[in-house]
Amino acid sequence: MWPFWWKGASGFSARSTAEEVTHGIDGTGLTAVVTGASSGIGEETTRVLALRGVHVVMAVRNIESGNQVREKILKETPEAKIDVMKLDLSSMASVRSFASEYKSLDLPLNLLINNAGIMACPFMLSSDNFELQFATNHLGHFLLTNLLLETMKKTANESNREGRIVIVSSEGHRFAYGQGIRFDKINDEASYNTLQAYGQSKLCNILHASELARKFKVKSYFAGTSCEHHCQFTSSRIHYDQSFALPQLHKYNW
Ligand SMILES: NC(=O)c1ccc[n+]([C@@H]2O[C@H](COP(=O)([O-])OP(=O)(O)OC[C@H]3O[C@@H](n4cnc5c(N)ncnc54)[C@H](OP(=O)(O)O)[C@@H]3O)[C@@H](O)[C@H]2O)c1
Repeated sequence: MWPFWWKGASGFSARSTAEEVTHGIDGTGLTAVVTGASSGIGEETTRVLALRGVHVVMAVRNIESGNQVREKILKETPEAKIDVMKLDLSSMASVRSFASEYKSLDLPLNLLINNAGIMACPFMLSSDNFELQFATNHLGHFLLTNLLLETMKKTANESNREGRIVIVSSEGHRFAYGQGIRFDKINDEASYNTLQAYGQSKLCNILHASELARKFKVKSYFAGTSCEHHCQFTSSRIHYDQSFALPQLHKYNW
């Protein structure tokens, strides 16, 4: 575990804020999709990317809360370019419909930020009959990434600028089931453990990032950061089980 105050080669630590790490960066001309942009880390990511001139598409399951966040950011940065689009990651039909609508808009895509997540919820099945944390945190993002890859490659080729796929995992990946990913027991309610299932889904996020890096022969970066300005651990809504507290703000995202 990387202590949150230690600075890495970049000069930043896990304590650095999104504004600090993007200071001086001009994101004009870039387009980003941020999932789960209606609160917490996704909201802050949207705010700061928009502040730096990036056109942000907020991919949210609740359009109303997405629009509220959009309005809030526009008050702070009136020139911000932000759109809100419907995406429910727990439903493959919704992911397909989002991707198809996105492509129909003929928008470029430089940054895909797979951030949305749920944590430690009671056993539930998605509309496609997969355990809900696995479906939302991993499967939905896996499908979304696959469906948007060609758009990202096209954008990178046409703009001559490398794209970025950011997959937000968690220190919680360490709490996965002892067997790692239990492919044969994904929907096994009897042995379901809320935190281990969360850990399993977050381990999937890391493996997904590693596999993308292997496939595209690029480096994958694992970094811890916090966004102390707006989304401290305490302001996040991710915790279903309020009796459980993560020890510190370690977020694998950038
Ligand atoms: N906060 C932490 O301490 C912490 C630590 C490590 C890692 N993380 C990771 O950071 C990411 C963001 O967490 P957060 O703390 O910012 O949590 P948060 O405040 O609860 O935000 C989660 C976001 O995901 C969205 N979401 C949930 N289910 C969705 C679905 N089916 N389809 C589309 N969007 C969905 C939520 O939408 P609604 O607004 O509609 O609910 C919300 O916007 C997660 O991947 C989490 O695992 C967080």
